[in-house]
Amino acid sequence: MTKTWLITGTSTGFGKSLAIYLAQKDDVNLVATARHTDQLAYLDAYDHGQILKQTLDVTNQAEIKAAVAATTAKFGRLDILVNNAGLGYFGTFEESDRDAARYMFDVNVWGLVDMTRAVLPTMREQGAGIIVNFSSIAGLASFPTLSFYHGSKYAVEGMSESLAQEVADQGIKIMLIEPSGFRTDWAGRSSQKALPKIAAYEKFAADIAGSESGAHHEAGDPDKAAAIIYDQVTNHAADLPLRLPLGKFATDSAIAKYEKSLTDFKAVRDISLSADQPE
Ligand SMILES: NC(=O)c1ccc[n+]([C@@H]2O[C@H](COP(=O)([O-])OP(=O)(O)OC[C@H]3O[C@@H](n4cnc5c(N)ncnc54)[C@H](OP(=O)(O)O)[C@@H]3O)[C@@H](O)[C@H]2O)c1
Repeated sequence: MTKTWLITGTSTGFGKSLAIYLAQKDDVNLVATARHTDQLAYLDAYDHGQILKQTLDVTNQAEIKAAVAATTAKFGRLDILVNNAGLGYFGTFEESDRDAARYMFDVNVWGLVDMTRAVLPTMREQGAGIIVNFSSIAGLASFPTLSFYHGSKYAVEGMSESLAQEVADQGIKIMLIEPSGFRTDWAGRSSQKALPKIAAYEKFAADIAGSESGAHHEAGDPDKAAAIIYDQVTNHAADLPLRLPLGKFATDSAIAKYEKSLTDFKAVRDISLSADQPE
């Protein structure tokens, strides 16, 4: 059965790879969205009426509403939403620019929230739907100079885990994608960098600068990610994982983080229990 997919942020990176992959599938109607649809000319070669290009800035409520309305008007359904659009921010916690960090939350968190809330009525009515939320290994494990990015992706993780429980009995599933470094524009143009000015943080300057020069040299291949996401949604919908780390660094870091957390929680368990009233 043909499924209708809507993807946010398809101008570059994961979104573009997924759009190209889906545009070649004969069981897909594709709504490819971007802030500037002139960046979506790469889809023209695949278009035989199954592709809708739609202007969408995920911080713009009117454009969100219009994109969902245009999707159901053209294809009659909206089966899969991919909340992909996102930004990064490199800087120490103390020195990061508040307005820039807030704007990143507007895109990474509130954009995803507003998109999701805009499609839920349609999915509930259908009694079916899948929401693919781009988190990151940075939504599971934390590293210096990324505190605000972590904050945004941990928020995506927590909300997705809760929402998944609320909508499970309505046929709606959530899948979190948790990549490590992939060859996209994220570490380059999509991430602001605040180089340290305080001497105590000077030791992080090379890491922050290195994120820019390392962009497009990461291990992860977004085309492979696209194939994995399509396969999970299409062939494994019944047992879709809530969390899907992508890349060796992502899966190794997630396992190490959870194993350490398990050990740490067990080590303080007696203290934890001592905080309750006696039964
Ligand atoms: N690449 C990695 O290593 C990595 C790892 C873990 C997670 N991720 C996550 O993967 C997702 C996709 O990023 P990417 O790696 O593919 O980077 P990318 O190539 O920089 O793509 C980011 C996309 O988000 C779009 N975008 C930014 N702000 C937007 C807004 N307000 N409204 C709509 N679209 C907006 C960009 O559009 P414009 O062209 O208009 O700017 C672009 O299409 C993000 O959520 C990111 O956090 C990436």
